Amino acid sequence: MDGRDLVRSVNVVGSGRAALGLRTVRAAWRRRRIDAAGLPRRGPERARVPGQVLGAEPGPGGGLIRFSRSELRIVVAVNGAVFWGWDGAGAQPSYALAGSGPEPDPRAVLEPDKEGGWRVVAGRVTVVVSRHGAVQVCTPGGVVLRRDLPPRWWEPVGGGPARWMQRSEVPADARFFGLGGRASGPRLRDGAYRLWNTDPGRAFGPGNDPLYLTMPVQLVVADAGTHLVFHDTAWDGTVVLWEGEEGAGSGHDRAGRCEVRMDGGPLRCWVMVGTPARVLHTWASLTGAPALPPAWALGHHHARWGFGGEEGVRRIVAGYQERGLPLDAVHLDIDHYDDHQVFTVDQERFPKLPVLAEDLRRDGIRLVSIVDPAVRAQPGDAVYESGAAVDAFVRDGQGRTVRGVVWAGESVFPDFTDARVRAWWGGLYEERLEQGFAGFWHDMNEPTSFSAFGEPTLPRSARHVLEGRGGDHREAHNVYALCMAQAACEGLRELAPRERPFVFSRSGWAGLQRYGGSWSGDVATGWPGLRASLSLVLGLGLCGVPYSGPDVGGFDGSPSPELYLRWLQLGAYLPLFRTHAGLRAGRREPWEFGAEVLEHARVALLERRRLLPYFVTLSHLARRTGAPYVRPLWWGAPEDRALRDCEDAFLLGDSLLVAPVLDPGADRRAVQLPRGRWYDTVTEKAHEGPAQVLVDAPLSRIPVFARAGAVLPVRGAEGGLELEVWAPAAGRAGGGLVVPDAGDGWEEPEVERYAARLQGERVVVTREREGGVVEPPYPVRVRGLG
Ligand code: NOJ
Repeated sequence: MDGRDLVRSVNVVGSGRAALGLRTVRAAWRRRRIDAAGLPRRGPERARVPGQVLGAEPGPGGGLIRFSRSELRIVVAVNGAVFWGWDGAGAQPSYALAGSGPEPDPRAVLEPDKEGGWRVVAGRVTVVVSRHGAVQVCTPGGVVLRRDLPPRWWEPVGGGPARWMQRSEVPADARFFGLGGRASGPRLRDGAYRLWNTDPGRAFGPGNDPLYLTMPVQLVVADAGTHLVFHDTAWDGTVVLWEGEEGAGSGHDRAGRCEVRMDGGPLRCWVMVGTPARVLHTWASLTGAPALPPAWALGHHHARWGFGGEEGVRRIVAGYQERGLPLDAVHLDIDHYDDHQVFTVDQERFPKLPVLAEDLRRDGIRLVSIVDPAVRAQPGDAVYESGAAVDAFVRDGQGRTVRGVVWAGESVFPDFTDARVRAWWGGLYEERLEQGFAGFWHDMNEPTSFSAFGEPTLPRSARHVLEGRGGDHREAHNVYALCMAQAACEGLRELAPRERPFVFSRSGWAGLQRYGGSWSGDVATGWPGLRASLSLVLGLGLCGVPYSGPDVGGFDGSPSPELYLRWLQLGAYLPLFRTHAGLRAGRREPWEFGAEVLEHARVALLERRRLLPYFVTLSHLARRTGAPYVRPLWWGAPEDRALRDCEDAFLLGDSLLVAPVLDPGADRRAVQLPRGRWYDTVTEKAHEGPAQVLVDAPLSRIPVFARAGAVLPVRGAEGGLELEVWAPAAGRAGGGLVVPDAGDGWEEPEVERYAARLQGERVVVTREREGGVVEPPYPVRVRGLG
């Protein structure tokens, strides 16, 4: 949300700038007052460390190690993940975990280590605990991946939640990734990264942190191996990172360091080690398989804040159709609501929404609705009254409903941490389905409440049910959007059981992928914003949320024709491919930037449509393996340091490498290629990696490479599935996986395996089945034979 958009929008609904200013000042004071009364003063604190080891009790998958002032439970799970929790913390309750969590691995045993310490030896990892409570994660060969120093707590003398701090060391060559959606990544350099989902209040660029979707998830890549560490605590916190440095010549290495500080919540974490693919697989098995978007959601979406009514929508759609430009979904923003109230329709501007939806659907275009969590607090209003009737709204410590200010004015906020409230909210999507919407775009759910000063969210002391445990907003804030997504998905599964829900959300937390994807929020129009939008998609993918994408063209202002085109060309290879812009921003339709841009945009849009079967396959593979569609170049070679530091290109699945143009005026760019042969997909020229190559990047296209031997599913000229096969290098075989689209239901189609090999001058492609090898059932097009 841009502060200026806020003022403009409120002007649009007639409330006026002054009234809004006053409301946000009042809201800010109110929040302060509520917190002053509802939050205990911190007062004096006592610091504590675990102390000396006293003894240990083996248990399933590990055991309990007692120290003089704390205890540490370690459990290695059957999926290879290691859990440890201090001070009696167990793995549950957790908003991140899918289901009850994995079973302990019976083969992992706790045994005494040297100097009074203990260790747990498991198949893929050894955990060594020192007698003072330092915890070391090592490879089976004994190489240290991470060393956590003994933690430290600060406990208020008068009682209340303890703050804690955990310092860790990683190898000197390690690189940090993750922490949710960060604009300055994907490599997270030295700095402090806050864990508190935040609407930055204006269109953001690489300098803005935190943003809407933070997660205490770090992916650390070093020569010694890759590991993911997840501190399962939803409270406000900060992660400070220092990359290490290797000593030149005979100099000493300086280890990489990390410090996690949390304002409360259990000190517990999960660690997974292995290749990047294995780590992400384990992470998905822990936090849930990514939801499968329907195939149409893998096409091109056009959104706009301010379509100006049904006619405006039809005009834009006709613009695409007349020019033969693919369009798969149109998103309606808050201006289609009646006076900005969620789950309503402005009947003047959208008098026949279901008819519009039906007309679009006949043309293969779905309607997607924005859904904001805030409900206008207006007695007599149907949504408000139905929520009040089930006591759905967040209250303060005195039992009064907490009010904030959002688009519709004074608003109240459902407590999504209450299963009863989720059930009520999920039922409200019935109205959306009746209007003809096929997908849902959750916005403003950090949750955001406008505020003239201080934090733009609910008071920290606001009470939440937290699944019956009870607590306040300090603990509930970061999981608010996650629980909103859960509410929507559960509701939609009941209302339309035969269709997979399509939900994507601005905010979220670890596990969001179970319910849907995300988008990058209000990224600033400009070249830095373009770069930031790639950082967010890569970072979220490494945290387990594989489906996301930016506002193509940026959210505010007017992109130059060149910037717009470069953004569209990048977006065409990202999972969520959506043009969108703010209320008063310039146009974003491909024909608004001149004939040349239109022609190049057409190529990008048609290529995306051609690649749709590949995107469908990647979505199924993400669901089954946790691997993001968009992967950093080091995905298959984390030991390659040049790739580790490369942030301006990415792999799309196993087969393609995409090198977007992220700078103005470029018509060539350098590309770092991983090992193997790579074909330029337009010229078919072969390049041998590992190497840095300089390639053409004319305005008409961004460089895209195919891996030699790749078999990828594409849409043929007649709309059927075809296999595009890139010739394997001499002496090498190739192959690929294909998962055909099985519609919008729940059917999980079989994964088809193909192999490609050179036979003389010919490329032979076969389908590998259990019973033997057969001819592929689709037409095959071989490329790269020269
Ligand atoms: C903020 C969202 O990030 C943006 O995409 C949307 O257009 C506005 N809210 C208005 O709903």
